Amino acid sequence: MDVAQTIVKFGQQVLGTEFGRKILTEDVIVSWKRRLAPFCFSADLSLLAYMHETDKYGYHSYIKYYQKHFAPLRSKKINLLEIGVGGYESPTSGGSSLRMWKQYFANGNIFGIDINDKSGIDESRIKTFRGDQSDTNFLHEVAQKIGSIDIIIDDGSHINSHVIASFEFLFPLLADNGIYVVEDVQTSYWHNFGGSSKDLSTKETMVGYFKNLVDGLNYQDMVPSRKPSYFDERVVEVCFYHNLIFIQKGLNDDPPGTFGRPGPES
Ligand SMILES: C[S@@+](CC[C@H](N)C(=O)[O-])C[C@H]1O[C@@H](n2cnc3c(N)ncnc32)[C@H](O)[C@@H]1O
Repeated sequence: MDVAQTIVKFGQQVLGTEFGRKILTEDVIVSWKRRLAPFCFSADLSLLAYMHETDKYGYHSYIKYYQKHFAPLRSKKINLLEIGVGGYESPTSGGSSLRMWKQYFANGNIFGIDINDKSGIDESRIKTFRGDQSDTNFLHEVAQKIGSIDIIIDDGSHINSHVIASFEFLFPLLADNGIYVVEDVQTSYWHNFGGSSKDLSTKETMVGYFKNLVDGLNYQDMVPSRKPSYFDERVVEVCFYHNLIFIQKGLNDDPPGTFGRPGPES
């Protein structure tokens, strides 16, 4: 059991009593968690996610995968951009994950994009921009202001066409060895988000689109070899988890496999 789970279990036991229910209202708990968060062990991402109240822990179980992929970057001076700040219309609500990233990446600068004004969230090392993730002019302006971007997380509209358009525009701007993450890919199967549960290979849906990158990893082994796209040459790893995808940028230039390679098909 991790530290966050222990705290949750303790909290549930206290809340289960008459006394606990009276004094520990939801507002009191949230405000105390925010106050205590800076004193938490900042290498434990699940604890930070719990203290900062992001749904990346609990409602979704993404945190263990973030910890696995981000741990080697924790002490680096990174720039992280998250699409979707949270809290929807209110300029001061949301920002839970941005504050969690700020604490986890002690030397990092954290940026957020949201279709709603989130300027009330800004503080030292956290800066938000208002705009639509499907608007590439806006994304271009943001990327110019940030400079080099090491990590991009898409937790915005979850509309299939938006997610794919943002990835196609932003991935080339990601630093070498950067990481691109897409959350909540369940909408890939939902028609109200432009997804489909019938045609699972179409590049119009997120999972269909990102599955296709796997063939790009092996572009040199096709017969005949195909002319590589930017993504064929720059994607070196695609990790699929439940409703979550990590795409690692690098140089995909390993030599092609030769064993048993056939000549051209007649
Ligand atoms: C699930 S919340 C983000 C939660 C936050 N990342 C966290 O983990 O705490 C989604 C956010 O995306 C924003 N959003 C929705 N459509 C968007 C779009 N087209 N462009 C940018 N942001 C959008 C919403 O306003 C909302 O605040």
